[in-house]
Amino acid sequence: MDDTGFVNVKKVWLLGTGDEDIEQAAAALKDGRLVAFPTETVYGLGADAFNTDALARVFEAKRRPRFDPLIVHIACVSALARIADLDKLSTVSRAKTILLCEKLMPGPLTLVLPKQPGVPDLATSALPTVAARFPSHPVAQKLIQASTGAIAAPSANPFGYLSPTRAEHVAEQLGDRVDFIVDGGACGIGVESTVLDMTEEPPRLLRPGGTPREAIETLIGRVEGAADSASSAPHAPGQLKSHYAPHAPVIPHDAAEMRTLPFRRGEFFLFFDEETLSVWATRQGASRCGIDSGAALALSRAALSDEQKTVEAAATLFDALHRIDSLRPSVIHAQKAPDTGLGPAVNDRLSRAAAKSV
Ligand code: TXA
Ligand code: MG
Repeated sequence: MDDTGFVNVKKVWLLGTGDEDIEQAAAALKDGRLVAFPTETVYGLGADAFNTDALARVFEAKRRPRFDPLIVHIACVSALARIADLDKLSTVSRAKTILLCEKLMPGPLTLVLPKQPGVPDLATSALPTVAARFPSHPVAQKLIQASTGAIAAPSANPFGYLSPTRAEHVAEQLGDRVDFIVDGGACGIGVESTVLDMTEEPPRLLRPGGTPREAIETLIGRVEGAADSASSAPHAPGQLKSHYAPHAPVIPHDAAEMRTLPFRRGEFFLFFDEETLSVWATRQGASRCGIDSGAALALSRAALSDEQKTVEAAATLFDALHRIDSLRPSVIHAQKAPDTGLGPAVNDRLSRAAAKSV
């Protein structure tokens, strides 16, 4: 292990996504081993949700505190009954849950529901609820189906660090703490699933993520935001203020502020959009500002609509931060996204990354 706490060993078993490789990964999961796999959001570190030894290994591999519960992944809506008891919900909450399952699953949405008694306490941190997610990534579905049908999987990164959106990120960060990595290329969405607590009425948004709040509210009406009430803290045990952090300190800025920041050597400038980057570069004098030497980067292209920009920014955010962090900048100035679509998820990750440095 190096002084950052990361494992240097790169000799992990990389598997492809062909039938034989998936079978091998599924057999390992059934055997209680750890398999990292792609989802549409980020790579997950999977373990059989009903095998407590395997679950314990997940916490160990991630150095994750046990008070932070895991998401249980399933490969069809009917498997929900194995882990969650919808009869314990009120009639209204149950109807909303069923509607969300019908319209938004599979997809980047995690529902917190009353748990079935058989779900191990280690998966739920002894809470009476379980977080359930049905990912849309075909490789994830195939793997879950071919293994035990219920796979607990946190993001496959050391606790508190940036989430992985490529197999290489997992190999670099977890090394041989994971038995296999199924390499399915880059994750399409790039930020974690939206977590919604259905045991409250109205439901409470615990984590903004890959499913925009607007998409949920269109279907089931108003949801409460995590920040709307001080009582939200115990409901979102894993939502620590500091999270998703690169090694370098991150400072979020709004667009106007970002444009006026002076270029300083050793610092990195992460822009939400190319327009703001170009205004900033012109102000600095492009040659001095070091764009060509890679001191500035935009997450989304000028030609996109505002909505598409937030989608592209989410998809590239963690990969960009991984790459920037490997340059070891003294600080990362990051432009906040607008507050629509996937913008809140991007801003949530930036503010948690920033919380580490204060
Ligand atoms: O997109 C994702 O959700 C990815 C991929 C791999 O599926 N997974 C992921 O897992 O982000 P993780 O462990 O990094 O984040 C799970 C979040 C944590 O904030 C945790 O506290 C919350 O879900 N959570 C899990 N079970 C919960 C429960 N019973 N009640 C409230 N929050 C819960
Ligand atoms: Mg995580």
